[in-house]
Amino acid sequence: MGVSAFAGMTKRESIKTKSMDPFLLEWLNILVRWGHLVAGIAWIGTSFYFVALDLSLRKANAMPQGVMGEAWEVHGGGFYHVQKYVSAPPDLPPNLIWFKWEAYLAWITGFLLLIIQYYIQADLYLVDPSVMALTSWQAIGISVGSLLAGWFIYDQLCKSPLGKHTGWLALSVYALIIAAAYGFSHVFSGRGAFIHVGAFVGTLMAANVFAVIIPNQGKITASLLKGEVPDVKYGKIGKQRSLHNTYLTLPVLFMMTSNHYAIITGNAHAWALVGLVVLGGGIARHFLLRHEVGDEMGEIAWTIPVIALALIGAMFLTQPTQGPALAMKVTDDEAFAIVKNRCSACHAANPTDATIKQAPKGIVFASIDDMKRYAKQIETQAVRNHAMPMGNKTGMLQEERDKLGAWIQAQ
Ligand code: HEC
Repeated sequence: MGVSAFAGMTKRESIKTKSMDPFLLEWLNILVRWGHLVAGIAWIGTSFYFVALDLSLRKANAMPQGVMGEAWEVHGGGFYHVQKYVSAPPDLPPNLIWFKWEAYLAWITGFLLLIIQYYIQADLYLVDPSVMALTSWQAIGISVGSLLAGWFIYDQLCKSPLGKHTGWLALSVYALIIAAAYGFSHVFSGRGAFIHVGAFVGTLMAANVFAVIIPNQGKITASLLKGEVPDVKYGKIGKQRSLHNTYLTLPVLFMMTSNHYAIITGNAHAWALVGLVVLGGGIARHFLLRHEVGDEMGEIAWTIPVIALALIGAMFLTQPTQGPALAMKVTDDEAFAIVKNRCSACHAANPTDATIKQAPKGIVFASIDDMKRYAKQIETQAVRNHAMPMGNKTGMLQEERDKLGAWIQAQ
């Protein structure tokens, strides 16, 4: 562990500092991230496929007993003829394929990634003392607690009388997600907050599969094995949750990727953007699936302006605030001193930060020329947004951001 040249900087140490090699941690990170993407793609693929299949079912003249509709599909050189049984076929087929591991693995790899990136390096990625001065363990406790509480509240909402009214239920779940976004952004760093909105919703989705959809399918198969007629309600409940999942999928993907963009994670109003993204993403899902199953453009055209408005609204919300007054004169030496003081603990050939062992993204501010080269990025990361210094670990002041901004504008 390096000895920091800057007072106060070594106080916040990450949990792993002494035990884990940064090189191995990075490899672990990329391998788990890869797995997470693969599992996520598989899950979303099957989830969208089955909702589209459901919507495309049509009645036919001679359908076996218990079948509510069928679909013909063509793919990969062959034709498929699929039939859906309202609750279950009269006899349990021998080779029943369950789709559950896509969801379980997406959640497991996602949670591992949360540990690798945000728990082990909580000081860097999760905590921002200017938002709330948490220790790493406090932040981790809040993280785990909020994911559990989120599932509990959501599940109770679905089971309550509200659950029978699709519109009201959708509105309450929507409000729950926005409240979570607001809460996270007042507890965690910008990046920490946004990844938690993603993790919060992703956890609801995975728990839907684990705790509701699959157990209900289990009950249906169990009563079939006993020779009883399964209760239709189990199928209906599962259907409701799986429908929720498809509406939440696209917004979740936005939350996860938005983490790499300072314009979003470094913006103070970003939590409000969540409402617009859930709206736009949910309606985009409606458009995609209804289009896929052959709805006329006239029936779904309304979605396009709504999606566009939601996204324009999101852009508007994250608009950079007014830049600093040009009148302020800041010399090269002054600007370099600020960067040296607030950035070089990490962005140096040999970082002195407790967690960072290599200049992040290879960005080193060793001279005024380096600063000029990276001027645009410095402006995005540290002036117009507060994404840098990461977790404001070096305690950068607003006045210093303004000065850097004035210096950059004068270049
Ligand atoms: C505590 C460590 C730390 C400090 C201090 C710090 N950074 Fe960073 N910086 C990082 C990390 C970690 C990343 C990589 C983030 C990622 O992987 O997305 C990064 C990335 C960046 C990037 C590239 C962003 C991108 O996505 O392309 C820029 C530009 C940057 N920092 C500028 C600054 C400036 C300017 C300062 C000082 C005002 C600063 N940083 C202070 C840790 C730090």
